[in-house]
Amino acid sequence: PLATLKQVLDEAKKGHYAVGAYNINNMEQLQGIVNAAAQTKSPVIIQASRGAIKYTEMNYLVHLIKAATELHPEIPIVLHLDHGDNLETVKKCVEAGFTSVMIDASHHPFEENVRITKEVVDYAHQFGVSVEAELGTLGGVEEDITGTVKLTDPDQAKLFVEQTGVDCLAVAIGTSHGAYKFKAEPVLATDLIPTIYEKTQKPLVMHGSSSVPQDILAQINKFGGQMPAAQGVPIAPLQKAIEGGVAKINVDTDSRMCMTGTIRQIFHEQPTKFDPREYLGPAREATTKMIAERMQAFKTAGHA
Ligand code: G3H
Ligand code: 13P
Ligand code: NA
Ligand code: ZN
Repeated sequence: PLATLKQVLDEAKKGHYAVGAYNINNMEQLQGIVNAAAQTKSPVIIQASRGAIKYTEMNYLVHLIKAATELHPEIPIVLHLDHGDNLETVKKCVEAGFTSVMIDASHHPFEENVRITKEVVDYAHQFGVSVEAELGTLGGVEEDITGTVKLTDPDQAKLFVEQTGVDCLAVAIGTSHGAYKFKAEPVLATDLIPTIYEKTQKPLVMHGSSSVPQDILAQINKFGGQMPAAQGVPIAPLQKAIEGGVAKINVDTDSRMCMTGTIRQIFHEQPTKFDPREYLGPAREATTKMIAERMQAFKTAGHA
C-alpha cells in the first residue's frame, strides 16, 4: 500500500532529512525514480501535476504506481497531487487512490487561500489523505500571475497552519519553477526557513528546487539541443534548508533534462537506432543515477 505524505514527512522531520518529491509523466520516469529509491533505501514521493494526470489519463498513472508498490513493498511510496487547483481536482485524485494532495491557492488573498485550503483539508482528512498548501509566490510563472514575488511571511504562516490544519506548508524563499531560475548568483532567503519552522512546527516544502546540472545542460546542447544558459538551486542551500525544517523538496526539471540529454546523445551517436527501448532504457538508467544522487544529498538514503 502507499504511504501518506504525513507519515513520511513526520519521520523526515524527526530524522532531520528531506524526502524528494519527483514529478513523473511516464513509466520510464517512474521506474527510474523508484529504482533509485530501492537502491538507496529511500522513502519517495511521486507527484503528478494536472498536466501529468491528463497525459496519463489518470488510470495509467495509478496502475503504474500500484505496480511500483507491488515490486517494492520495502519502500514507502507516496502518490501526491502537485499544484492542485480546486476541490474538484482533489476529489478526483482521492477517489483514484492518491494518498496526498497539494491545494495551491497561494495566488489568492490570504483569507481566500485559508478558506479554499481548509475546505480541502476537511475533505481529504476524512479519507486519511494528507494536504500540502502554499503561502507566498515563487518566481517565474507564479510571478506572472500575481505580478510580484512575495516571500512567505513567518507570522502569516503560523496563522495559516492554525486556521487550515494542513500537514505541511510550501514556502516561497526565492526559487521558481523550470530551468531558468537565476541569471547570475542564486539569491535565496534560506534564513526565513528556521523562523517559519519555529512558528509553524510543520514540515516545510520547497518548490522549484531543481539544480539544473550544468553537465546535463552541456550534454543537451552538445547533441543538438538549444537550451539557453540556465541555472538552478545548488545542493548547498538545499541542505541548509533541510537543516532549517524543509522536509519535502520538489524536483521535476532535472528529471526532464536528464532524459532529454541521454536521448539526444543516443540519437546523435547512434542514428540508426529506432527501438524505443534503446533510448528510453538508458534514459531511465540516467534518471536512476541522478535521482540517487539527490537521495544522498537530501539525506533520504537509508531511511526506507
Ligand atoms: O510545478 C510544475 C511541475 O514542474 C509540473 O509541470 O504542469 O508542466 O506538468 P507541468
Ligand atoms: P523544478 O522546476 O525546479 O523541478 O520544480 C518542480 C516543482 O516545484 C514541482 O512542483
Ligand atoms: Na504561490
Ligand atoms: Zn511546484
